[in-house]
Amino acid sequence: MKNEFTFDELLNRVNTVKVAEGNERVRALSQRIITDLFKTIDEFKVTPDEFWSAINWLNQLGQLGQTGLITAGLGFDRLLDILADEADQKAGLVGGTPRAIEGPLYVAGAPSSKYEARLDDGKMAGETYVMEGVVRGLDGQPLANASLDAWHANEHGMYSHFDPSQAEYNLRRNITTDEQGRYRFRSVIPPGYAIPPTGPVAELFAALGRHGNRPAHIHFLVSAEGKRTLTTQVNIPGDSFLDDDFAFATRDGLVVTLEKVASPAGYESLGISGPFTRIPFDFVLQNAVQADESKHLSRVERALGA
Ligand code: DHB
Ligand code: FE
Repeated sequence: MKNEFTFDELLNRVNTVKVAEGNERVRALSQRIITDLFKTIDEFKVTPDEFWSAINWLNQLGQLGQTGLITAGLGFDRLLDILADEADQKAGLVGGTPRAIEGPLYVAGAPSSKYEARLDDGKMAGETYVMEGVVRGLDGQPLANASLDAWHANEHGMYSHFDPSQAEYNLRRNITTDEQGRYRFRSVIPPGYAIPPTGPVAELFAALGRHGNRPAHIHFLVSAEGKRTLTTQVNIPGDSFLDDDFAFATRDGLVVTLEKVASPAGYESLGISGPFTRIPFDFVLQNAVQADESKHLSRVERALGA
């Protein structure tokens, strides 16, 4: 029995010790990450104080439920989209509306209605808009009964559910398309988003010398029978962070155009009574290869096998 270890002996022992098979995939990933961290600590001469303050930071991040708030800013969410795009390209799965990151602020179960909805509660300051269009397949055929979740921030860049000052499901709705595949919804154009100004997330980005701003955007989760569920977001033009998104999530083809409409004619059922801004946008879904790709699930719901 030997219990005195060199660096290499300890690393090897940590990576190989076992009393059961365990999970092969978890073992392989953990071995690689632990090896990289051992080497980082050694090469950068990480001090015990640095190490334990990092652990304390991780605990704070977890206690506040903010782990999901650092992945996008560190590039992981966009990385997964780049890898998914590459895999699609290789498999010949091309065309349709580009995917974009979900972000950490989706909430399932928003109030649902057919064809049209109002997302705001009438109290949000800003420019009234109606976003509308058709959900189609790659063949151009409209998709009736497609399910579309839309969600965005309020005038302070905050999302309901995570911001206790907002009513439940404020600025979050689900819409089912009509027989012609159409949807439309009314809301107020959101400003950009910024990470919480204090706490572990802000500390990290300050230490990295980075800002935590996203350009103004609207999130979507769109699904239809036989089609691949699409997670995407559109950007409002003119935002100064469009090409400097801290989450690296802005994409060509997803910056919408704003049309000034003078008359509310045809939009009365949404409570529009004066000039407003129209955002035309069609969503184009690819065909599903496997049945479960059509499920209307967020990233975590999908991962947990909902
Ligand atoms: C983050 C917030 C968002 O609203 C978003 O769309 C993407 C990422 C974030 O805080 O990481
Ligand atoms: Fe967002």
